[in-house]
Amino acid sequence: MEIERIAVVGGAGLMGSGISQVVAQAGFQVTMVDVDDAALERGLARIDRSLERLVNRGTVTSDEAGATRSRLATGTDLEGAAATADHVIESVVEVEPVKAEVLGRLDRVCRPEVVFASNTSQIAISKLAATTTRPDRVIGSHWFNPPPVMNLIELIRGVETSDETLQTALDLAHRYGKETIVCNKDTQGFITSRLIVMLMVEAARIVEEGIASVEDVNKACVLGFSHAMGPLDTADLSGLDTVERVADGLVKNFGDRFLPPQTLRALVHAGHFGRKTGRGFRVYDETT
Ligand code: NAI
Repeated sequence: MEIERIAVVGGAGLMGSGISQVVAQAGFQVTMVDVDDAALERGLARIDRSLERLVNRGTVTSDEAGATRSRLATGTDLEGAAATADHVIESVVEVEPVKAEVLGRLDRVCRPEVVFASNTSQIAISKLAATTTRPDRVIGSHWFNPPPVMNLIELIRGVETSDETLQTALDLAHRYGKETIVCNKDTQGFITSRLIVMLMVEAARIVEEGIASVEDVNKACVLGFSHAMGPLDTADLSGLDTVERVADGLVKNFGDRFLPPQTLRALVHAGHFGRKTGRGFRVYDETT
């Protein structure tokens, strides 16, 4: 099946808006679906700022930016957008019952051949696939933040994911201009979330134990290990609410080595989710 129209559910979110931008830049017609119009407006504004930066840098021409923008539509009618979609990317909040409900609704209206790609950071794909009648056509397609900048998509096979579905996801990722890695076994946290969350929680523990400052823990990874960004800065960029949920999910499957430290929980309780709220492990001048 030729894929032309892609629905991005959770399209107003931090990840959903970035993914929508990349997919539209690659020439697909995109419908960003979310629960409220104001959030969709904010998502579009984020895309406009990102496209403007790319034009200023000379990475895309203003004609290309305009064409990308014209391929982006928004809406709150999930069923309406899904009915005409050739492919769906699910990027709603990292809450399993919410994802299950969304996938169930999509399954009822999408054509049977449509592949669902979930951007979950850690939920086992087979669990999500089991909420549909097409488990062979459900795959994990895990992007990195911010999607227009980060060059990788991690693909995760559920127990039932077919070779054909994996091939479709590989082809799409390459059309989006991304490199891929494949997680061959369905497992909570896949390859990348297990690695980065372990580093984030350990970094937060080092700060909590009074061993070193946030700044020095970040600096250790940047200068000592050549990481592009320190783990606590990465956590702030990812959203501490999301990091806490992902870590809790990993605890359920792998034990206390992933337990979120109390400082992380306290920041989340206080509504300090990182860059998107202006404060996390660090304080930011403006939200993104
Ligand atoms: P976010 O909170 O910024 O966005 C989630 C969006 O889902 C919101 O706009 C919300 O309104 C929407 N939503 C909630 N229920 C919905 C429903 N029933 N129908 C339609 N839309 C609904 O969260 P973020 O960070 O964009 O995360 C989204 C997904 O991406 C999660 O699964 C997360 O684990 C994953 N992810 C996040 C990364 C990060 O760095 N933040 C990196 C890679 C994956």
